[in-house]
Amino acid sequence: MKTEKSSSRVDVRTGKLSGEGVVSSVRTLGQTGGLFSDKAALSAADPDTVVYSVESHEATEAGTRGGLFFGTSTVKPGRVGDEYFMTKGHFHSRIECAEYYWGISGRGVLLLMDESGSCRAEEVTEGSLHYIPGGVAHRLINTGEVDLVVGACWPSDAGHDYAAIADRGFPVRLVCRDGEPFFEEAAR
Ligand code: PA5
Ligand code: NI
Repeated sequence: MKTEKSSSRVDVRTGKLSGEGVVSSVRTLGQTGGLFSDKAALSAADPDTVVYSVESHEATEAGTRGGLFFGTSTVKPGRVGDEYFMTKGHFHSRIECAEYYWGISGRGVLLLMDESGSCRAEEVTEGSLHYIPGGVAHRLINTGEVDLVVGACWPSDAGHDYAAIADRGFPVRLVCRDGEPFFEEAAR
């Protein structure tokens, strides 16, 4: 038997993925603008501004029972008005599926909300480890001045349910007040 080299790589310092099975996507302000409350600031901003990108290693088909996906999310530093750049956020389509996140670099917040709408937040920094249980929606927010880079591993049959978040959102917004992150009640 011969030892083979894996056809994919993860740079353990930066989270950068390369090789076979790596897919990537980018989300711009034009695609995610609806997340932000300050519509005047949004219309003054360039819709091509990158808000976040995701690279994932998908060695199996989406929907495969018992499989795993592995990825790196990068949320850019920036704000729309006072509100920090963030991911859309989602529940998993298979609501019972959990996920791990870990901080690679930068500084931010992981916003978590259960199905009853109850919300909590964990600080994300280099080396912070986050277990996101099933039934819990999750959103990353960059509160720093540099990229927030976060690793993730989740079941390949978890899926992403964005509808519930688009519908009722998270109950809080993270804004910059006097130079510091501050949770504000979201007006619905
Ligand atoms: O699987 C995850 O939870 C992450 O890879 C997210 O999909 C990623 O951070 C992008 O966020 P969202 O899917 O909410 O746009
Ligand atoms: Ni997820």
